[in-house]
Amino acid sequence: MLRFSTAGESHGEALVAVLSGVPAGLKIDLAFIDRELWRRQQGYGRGGRMKIERDSAHILSGVRHGATIGSPIALTIENRDWKNWQEALPVGAGDPEKHKAVNSPRPGHADLAGALKYNFPEARYVLERASARESAARVAAGAIAKLLLRELGIEVLSHVLAVGGAAVRDAEIPWEKLQALHAREEVLLNCADAEAEERMKAEVDNALKTGDSVGGVFEVVAHGVPPGLGTYANWDERLDALLAAALMSLQAVKAVEIGSGIGSAASPGSVVHDAIGYERAKGDGRAGYTGFTRRTNHAGGIEGGVSNGEDILVRGYLKPISTLRRPLESVDFKTRAPVKAAYERSDVAVVPAAGVGGEAMVALTLARCALEKFGGDSMGETLRNFAGYREQLRRF
Ligand SMILES: Cc1cc2nc3c(=O)[nH]c(=O)nc-3n(C[C@H](O)[C@H](O)[C@H](O)COP(=O)(O)O)c2cc1C
Repeated sequence: MLRFSTAGESHGEALVAVLSGVPAGLKIDLAFIDRELWRRQQGYGRGGRMKIERDSAHILSGVRHGATIGSPIALTIENRDWKNWQEALPVGAGDPEKHKAVNSPRPGHADLAGALKYNFPEARYVLERASARESAARVAAGAIAKLLLRELGIEVLSHVLAVGGAAVRDAEIPWEKLQALHAREEVLLNCADAEAEERMKAEVDNALKTGDSVGGVFEVVAHGVPPGLGTYANWDERLDALLAAALMSLQAVKAVEIGSGIGSAASPGSVVHDAIGYERAKGDGRAGYTGFTRRTNHAGGIEGGVSNGEDILVRGYLKPISTLRRPLESVDFKTRAPVKAAYERSDVAVVPAAGVGGEAMVALTLARCALEKFGGDSMGETLRNFAGYREQLRRF
């Protein structure tokens, strides 16, 4: 079973990811992992922290001579900012005078709920772990999942549909256009529609000017997914449920939509459901997994908790960044007197970066489901099983 966990504080020495269950013999491309980390750091509206960090994954275990060996993969990502925090956040007792307490909880953050839960007198330790800096470790683990999926012909990308009130007019973007977007060396807001991207930039500029923040919507697209991942057999094995939980676990994601799920609630079934056709030539093993066709994909590639062979479309809806340069009302932890919420250096918009985190979570989920279906302790075994299933689909 593919499993992963992360550790690390935002201003600690490093982030850590441990990924186990990857079959032996998967080639590991370190430059690819670092490019994914770079992508998570991009986007108009990021704050000063991302200028300090240049994330790079350092693999400690599970990979030898350029390929996985079947044992758990452990990796670290150094926090360059750590050098500025060694006295403020030491592992040892250190000098209490040098600690940087967060004395008034910031609305929208875990500060108050976390301090109450863990019985902390202030919120420093809470924000250190609740921070989305953690998502860098997920992106590194997700990059390895993407390398595995590539072997099965599956690619996962994302793009931005909305920032604040500015949204694309047409959300259906051809796969080739998404690939071109992904290849760009400069990322503005990772939107495939240049006109909409300018309106999105104006939303960020307005937030910067007014000391406010914005949220938005990203879409993750998984291309080349075979029918048959996930199952309706049990509630906790449904692919839509697994993807929703995976995306919802990302910091600031407050709603998840599969395909056109939200709009479909108000539309008639005749408009929402994707009619089925058949073209023998499409199922020749090269053009597609089967000859079954759909002209539309409102279902987002999943019916009954099972992938149906169409692109998987999952959207993450982000609340606006919680830290405001014009802070909201809060209360001092010690005196309980009304004060302005504490301010920590912050991004004002993170939709493209959250999309990269979303890709990682989708890739990890699909890789887990693929390994559950095809099994294999070595890539040779996994690919043999996959080829057998492909042949079964071709003959269906
Ligand atoms: C990539 C990324 C970067 C983020 N950066 C910040 C930030 O700089 N400042 C901030 O206040 N929130 C930021 N957030 C959002 C917070 O981490 C998140 O809203 C907060 O921890 C509360 O958790 P919740 O939104 O899941 O309830 C970021 C989120 C993501 C996905």
